[in-house]
Amino acid sequence: MSESAAMPEGAIVLDHVTKSYGDRVILDDVSCSIPSGQTTVLLGPSGTGKSTLIRLAVGLAAQEKGDVIVLGKNVQSLERKELLKLRQRFGMLFQDGALFGSISVADNIGFPLKHVAKKPAPEVDARVQELLELVGLPGVGGRTPDALSGGQRKRVALARAIALEPEIVFFDEPTSGLDPQTSASIDALINEMQARLGLSFVVITHDVQSAGAIAHQVGMLFGGKLLAYGPKDEVFASTDPTVRGFLDREPNL
Ligand SMILES: Nc1ncnc2c1ncn2[C@@H]1O[C@H](COP(=O)(O)OP(=O)(O)OP(=O)(O)O)[C@@H](O)[C@H]1O
Ligand SMILES: [Mg+2]
Repeated sequence: MSESAAMPEGAIVLDHVTKSYGDRVILDDVSCSIPSGQTTVLLGPSGTGKSTLIRLAVGLAAQEKGDVIVLGKNVQSLERKELLKLRQRFGMLFQDGALFGSISVADNIGFPLKHVAKKPAPEVDARVQELLELVGLPGVGGRTPDALSGGQRKRVALARAIALEPEIVFFDEPTSGLDPQTSASIDALINEMQARLGLSFVVITHDVQSAGAIAHQVGMLFGGKLLAYGPKDEVFASTDPTVRGFLDREPNL
C-alpha cells in the first residue's frame, strides 16, 4: 500500500495484519481503525498480542502480512530516518514506567526535551515545571524516582510521555500494580489529559473497570483475533460468549 491520496481515516489503521513469532501466530488477520482524538482501549488476556500490536505501530516489530498505517504513514515501508521522525510524534508510557532510576524526576521528564528536541536548558526547566503541575506533582522534580509511590511514578512517566506534545500516546498497562484508588486517580488523570489535549490515546490493559472509566473505543483481543471492536457501550453490551466471559471475569474462559 502506498502513501497516496486515498489514505484510510484513523490515527492508526491495521489492514489485515498477521504477526507470528516462529510458528506461533500472535495476531491473525487483524483489521481496525483507531480514531484520532479519542481514547481507545485494547483489552485481552495475557499473551494475546496487545503489546505486540503497539510494537508494530511504533516500528519495533514487523508483521508478515498486511499494513500498519500510523498518522498516514505505512510504518513498515519507512526508511529508518522517517521512522525516527514518525516516532517523535508518539509518546510511550511503558508497563513499568521505565524511568531512569539514577536521575531526578525533573531530568527524567526533561530527557526528551533536552536530548531529542535539543531545547535550551531554561526552556526545558520551564516545560518540566509545567508538566509536573499538569500531572499533579508540583515540587517533586528534585527527587529520584525511588522516592515516589507507584502511582506518582506513573504520573511522572505520563509527564515524560507527553513532554514533546505527541499526537498519539501509547500506554501499556498504566494501572498495573496500583491499588484501586490509585488506579482510579490515574484513570481520572488520563481522562483529564485526553480532554484537555485532545490527543489520540491507545491504552492496553487487563483492567475492565479501568477500560470502562477511560475508553471511547474498546477492542478485545483473544486468540490472535480482534473479537470485538467499537464504541465502548457496544462492546460492553456484547453477547459474544468469549467477550462476555472476559468482561464478566469468568474463571474458565
Ligand atoms: N520477541 C518475541 N519473540 C518471541 N515471542 C514473543 C516476542 N514478543 C512476544 N512474544 C510472545 O508473543 C505473545 C504475545 O505477547 P505480547 O507481549 O504481545 O502479549 P500481551 O497481550 O501484551 O500480554 P500481557 O498482557 O501479559 O502483557 C506471547 O506469547 C509472547 O511470549
Ligand atoms: Mg503486554
